[in-house]
Formats: sequence, structure tokens, C-alpha cells
Amino acid sequence: MQILVTGGAGYIGSHTVLSLLENNYDVIVYDNLVNSSIESLVRVEKLAGKSIEFIEGDICDKGKLSGVFKQFKINAVIHFAALKAVGESVKIPLSYYQNNVHGSVCLLEVMQEHKVHNFIFSSSATVYGEENDVPYVETMKFGTPSSPYGASKVMVERVMSDFAFSNEDFRGVTLRYFNPIGAHESGTIGEDPKGIPNNLLPYVAQVAVGKRHELSIFGDDYPTVDGSCERDYLHVMDLAQGHVAALNWLNCHSKFSGVEAFNLGTGNGISVFAIVKAFEQASNKIIPFEVSPRRVGDLPAFWANTSKANDELNWQANRSLDQMMVDTWRWQLNNPNGYQS
Ligand SMILES: NC(=O)c1ccc[n+]([C@@H]2O[C@H](COP(=O)([O-])OP(=O)(O)OC[C@H]3O[C@@H](n4cnc5c(N)ncnc54)[C@H](O)[C@@H]3O)[C@@H](O)[C@H]2O)c1
Repeated sequence: MQILVTGGAGYIGSHTVLSLLENNYDVIVYDNLVNSSIESLVRVEKLAGKSIEFIEGDICDKGKLSGVFKQFKINAVIHFAALKAVGESVKIPLSYYQNNVHGSVCLLEVMQEHKVHNFIFSSSATVYGEENDVPYVETMKFGTPSSPYGASKVMVERVMSDFAFSNEDFRGVTLRYFNPIGAHESGTIGEDPKGIPNNLLPYVAQVAVGKRHELSIFGDDYPTVDGSCERDYLHVMDLAQGHVAALNWLNCHSKFSGVEAFNLGTGNGISVFAIVKAFEQASNKIIPFEVSPRRVGDLPAFWANTSKANDELNWQANRSLDQMMVDTWRWQLNNPNGYQS
């Protein structure tokens, strides 16, 4: 079975491509490399001992996309391609809506043109917004997104539902990721943020390796276990396997049409201070930090109810917090400059 993976050279995409190859899927990656490097796929090919078809292109380029659907017999699309920096999305919202929303619409149009109906979308816990109580359950209504990035995820989920309503062949799965961290256990692929990392773990790892001076912890007076924010961190390889589980689910439910949402998380909230401590233990390094004011839009704590993914996808995030830290540290140590090293 041939799977088109948009954004497959990126952090989650590259780990998922590896899982797909290991599960005997053939993979075509379509990526414009705006936030990634082709080196990630070279390393995935080495790890899997299999080759990947790579096409450099933008999801907004319908002509090029259409050519890919003509060239390959595609069974399903896993759609990672998006811009993902929350803070940046506040500064350049139009670019986020153009890339993430318009790009997804272009992709769906080309899929429809070529009668490809299976679609797995990278959504996010951010769609639950601040109105919902934790743990988040798939049956909850969308909350108010705290950024244009979050809004772009809500909008694409809405586009999928409306499209499914109008087209009974459409088979959509929306995977709502919580906080993916870690790296493949080989230490050869991992998260390689360009410039200053937006996410906690890459930042912590760069402080540990001496690339950054100290960590800023935004707020220590939240109503949480130790005052810092709590998130549901899951290992990126568990997340990658969640995509294989979603594909298997689509394959097993041949009569399904519509859109189904699944939370992918561990079901546990971990505080920023606990992450710092766990990373110090894994790396045997001290992480200097300062406490800064709260950031606008940060929620105190959220985590997933994962029952639906556990029961229906037969999927669970199994890797421990310690493994997430050890694998992040191995990746950082082996690749201090990411894929440039
Ligand atoms: N990393 C997280 O914490 C997280 C959490 C929830 C959801 N997500 C979503 O998961 C997906 C993957 O995230 P990631 O962390 O791997 O990000 P990433 O930036 O590493 O990967 C995204 C990939 O998409 C590519 N891309 C972006 N715009 C494109 C376009 N117009 N055409 C073709 N390729 C394009 C980039 O070059 C990159 O390779 C994104 O949709 C993101 O919003 C990520």
C-alpha cells in the first residue's frame, strides 16, 4: 500500500515514515522543506533499510500535487505539512491560514479529483481550548483557540467534517496530539528546530549541551502540583505508531465514512519542573533556569483521556518519561547541530 505523507521530512513525519516502512507500507514524502532537512529521510532510509520516494513541493501547488497522484497509486494520505509555531502564528496569522488551512483545502481538492478518500490529519490538543475541563475527551466541543495556529487546526477539522457531509466516500481521521517529545532510540533522527526552539524539550536539551545559557520557565504560580504548567508528554515513536494504528483502523473499517477523532497522549500531566528534574537525571547535567512571567494564552494544565484510542485503535503510549529524556539526550549529544552535524 502506498501512503502519501505530506510534511514527512519534519519531526513527527520522519519518525512516522520509519514506522510505516517497518510495517511494510510504501511511502511517498511530499515536503517543501520549509522547516526540515532531507537528511532526516536519508537517515530514515538507513534505519529501515528501505527507500522512500521524495518529492519537494508545496501543498498549495495543486498542479505539482496532482502530478504526484497521477504518478503513484496512493491509498491514503497522512497530512503533517503545516507551520507550527504558536507565537509566530500571532505575528503572521495570514501565512498560517494560507499554509495550514488553504494548503489542506488544496490537498483535499486534489485527493477528490483523484478519488483518494483515506485521510489522516495532524490535529492538536489545542482544539479543546480553555473552556473544556481536563482530561480532554473527543466528544467535547471545540474551545476557543488561543492562537491563529490553534484556530487553523479547528478550521481544518471543520473543513473535514463539512467535506465528509457532502461526500460519502470521504474517510477522515483526525489525530489530536498532546505533547510529543523524544527521539528515535538510535539517536539518529530527532527534533531539529530552526533557530530558538519554541518547545520545552529541545530548549532544555540545548541548555544541557551548552548551546543556550538557561531555561525560562513561564510562571510558577499556576494552580498545579508545583506551580508550573502541566502537559501530557508522549514519546514521538509512540505517536508515530499511533499513525500506523490509525491506518490499520481505516483498513479494518472498510464501511466507515465520515470523520473520527482520536486523542493521542499518555493520559498524565507532567509539570515543567518535573521535566527539568527528569532531564537532569537522564543527562547528568544541571539545567540552569529562571522563572519568568506567565505567557499569554498558556493554559495551566491539560492532558488526554486516551480511552478511545486505547480501545478502538488498540494503541497506547508505552514509553516512559525516563525513556523520553534518555532518547532526547542521545539525539542532542550525537547531533549538537541537528541534521547539520
Ligand atoms: N510538534 C508538536 O508539538 C505538535 C503538536 C500537535 C500537532 N502538531 C502538528 O503535527 C504536524 C507535524 O509537526 P512537526 O512537529 O513534525 O513539525 P515540523 O515543522 O517538524 O514538520 C512539518 C513539516 O511540514 C513541512 N511543510 C510545512 N508547510 C508545508 C507546505 N506548505 N508544503 C509542504 N510541506 C510543508 C515542513 O517543511 C516540515 O517538514 C504539524 O501539522 C503540526 O501542527 C505538532
